[in-house]
Amino acid sequence: DAGVFTYDPGFTSTASCDSTITFIDGAKGELLHRGYPIDQLAGKSHYLEVCYLLLYGELPSAEQLEIFESTITRHTMLHEQMVNFFRGFRRDAHPMAVMVGVVGAMSAFYHDSTDISDPYQREVASHRLIAKMPTIAAWAYKYSVGQPFVYPRNDLSYAANFLHMCFAVPAEEYVVDPILARAMDRIFTLHADHEQNASTSTVRLASSSGANPFACVAAGIACLWGPAHGGANQACLEMLKEIGTPDQIPEYIARAKDKNDPFRLMGFGHRVYKNFDPRATVMKQSADEVLDLLGVENNPILATAKELEKQALADPYFTEKKLFPNVDFYSGIILEAMGFPTSMFTPIFALSRTVGWVSQWKEMLNDPQNKIGRPRQLYLGNTQRDYVDIENR
Ligand code: SDX
Repeated sequence: DAGVFTYDPGFTSTASCDSTITFIDGAKGELLHRGYPIDQLAGKSHYLEVCYLLLYGELPSAEQLEIFESTITRHTMLHEQMVNFFRGFRRDAHPMAVMVGVVGAMSAFYHDSTDISDPYQREVASHRLIAKMPTIAAWAYKYSVGQPFVYPRNDLSYAANFLHMCFAVPAEEYVVDPILARAMDRIFTLHADHEQNASTSTVRLASSSGANPFACVAAGIACLWGPAHGGANQACLEMLKEIGTPDQIPEYIARAKDKNDPFRLMGFGHRVYKNFDPRATVMKQSADEVLDLLGVENNPILATAKELEKQALADPYFTEKKLFPNVDFYSGIILEAMGFPTSMFTPIFALSRTVGWVSQWKEMLNDPQNKIGRPRQLYLGNTQRDYVDIENR
């Protein structure tokens, strides 16, 4: 019987900000980056070119792209003293915990690019974050498996460099398979930006206080870690493994439909898409390609995933609630086939999404009127009342 305020928040729009970077039509299942459909970018472009598009609004000329790629390549190393940060964690720390810590610590090592009022420093911070995230993610992985850190190389592409830093060891030469590098690059592209999702909104909100870009991106990484958001790719593969064989699928579909059961189909459903997530469609095609190339085309997990999708989409519960596979449904299958442990799935999502966070951060800073600012609430608590001494309670 709490007294309840009636309160007009004074606004009707539900939009938290305006933006020119990414457009999603959830009903049609469309995703555009600066007007270009995601399937065209995934098929014809590559991650650093998409980074340029997201950051600057247009596809680069050959010269612009060369300068941009060279700039990113030459920022891939970390300050050598940051190695100590990794060693401060337990070996079994989740790589996302390491990424949150190390990216936040970049504020202390790169304070010459933390003054957000200086456009040049904003540019340098953007390049540093995009360039160093693969090194941070790869070193978090190396630390977790007790192997020595592998330094970035300037002769490798962005995706090949990440694979090399993850899987090369000093004991023998590791040659990056160009097909795996292409698949890795496509996964980066498919996760690059996604409008005002929870982690991007976190970065924008943190930035609205004037916090430095490294601290804001660390906040975005923390938010992405959740299983309802970026952690879903890890949760989805673990779910598919728990299901095991296709004959177990009906039981799990029944559980997902049971309101008394907290179980949900990981990799299914979306706050915005009420149709197929276009990224999932491209990811499913990539899964077939990569697994064929890796000689694991008969991957039982992929078979279970496809059968689960088929049975779920034949069930009115899912179709009436407009629940379709999202970007996380197939990505874990590809990443595991490439050799990554499930704990590296969300760090790879974070690595990919850094350009989205940074682009949206810069967009907000370039238009002070576009700040998320301070969200308001609808107060439903007690009306004012007087304190009661403990002996009278
Ligand atoms: C990402 O925002 C972004 O753009 C995020 C992202 C990005 O690129 O940044 O796209 C990345 O986070 C993708 C989503 C990854 N998460 C998962 O796959 C986790 C599983 N999905 C659910 O947790 C869920 O679908 C959400 C959180 C994604 C959306 O939840 P909502 O907003 O409740 O979904 P909804 O409103 O469409 O749900 C409608 C109904 C609800 O039941 P009712 O209240 O109507 O009875 O469907 C149910 C939900 O309970 N439902 C599910 C379900 N997802 C929603 N039931 C079973 N299994 C599911 N997966």
